Amino acid sequence: MEKTFAIIKPDAVERNLIGKILERIESAGFRIVAMKRTLLTKENAEGFYAVHKERPFFGELTDSMSTGPVVLLVLEKENAISAWRDLMGATNPKDAAPGTIRKDFAIDLGRNSAHGSDAPETAAFEISYFFNQLEIIS
Ligand code: RTP
Ligand code: MG
Repeated sequence: MEKTFAIIKPDAVERNLIGKILERIESAGFRIVAMKRTLLTKENAEGFYAVHKERPFFGELTDSMSTGPVVLLVLEKENAISAWRDLMGATNPKDAAPGTIRKDFAIDLGRNSAHGSDAPETAAFEISYFFNQLEIIS
């Protein structure tokens, strides 16, 4: 079983979409093995997105991730990393396929409702950034 890390982003929490997104996650066969609702500081977001530090959108991204509460999740499933990215859809909702979370819920590229790890190394880093081993119960 593979684990991945997911965030329900502030734009989705703000619009009361937590339940609808969790429903899609469970219906797709993921097990939610850790979960918490919290508010990221700007510093939390900067550390989390450190790989994007040099990108032009870094300031905007870390601002938007710390504007309101998020839900942090560890998801477990076979091929969880790619399966969760498939369920989210393309980064820009304009390009996202019908039936994906970003197509159905996201507003624009900056307010795209969900995050997902992109590789085993980033999943391990992102899970350990927010959860300790005692909080992850398979
Ligand atoms: P995520 O990390 O949030 O799951 O999204 P992703 O892998 O599909 O996209 P990534 O390239 O990692 O970008 C992280 C987030 O930054 C915002 N973004 N803004 N203004 C821009 O050009 C731009 N590009 C990316 C998006 O919110 C994206 O999810
Ligand atoms: Mg990414």
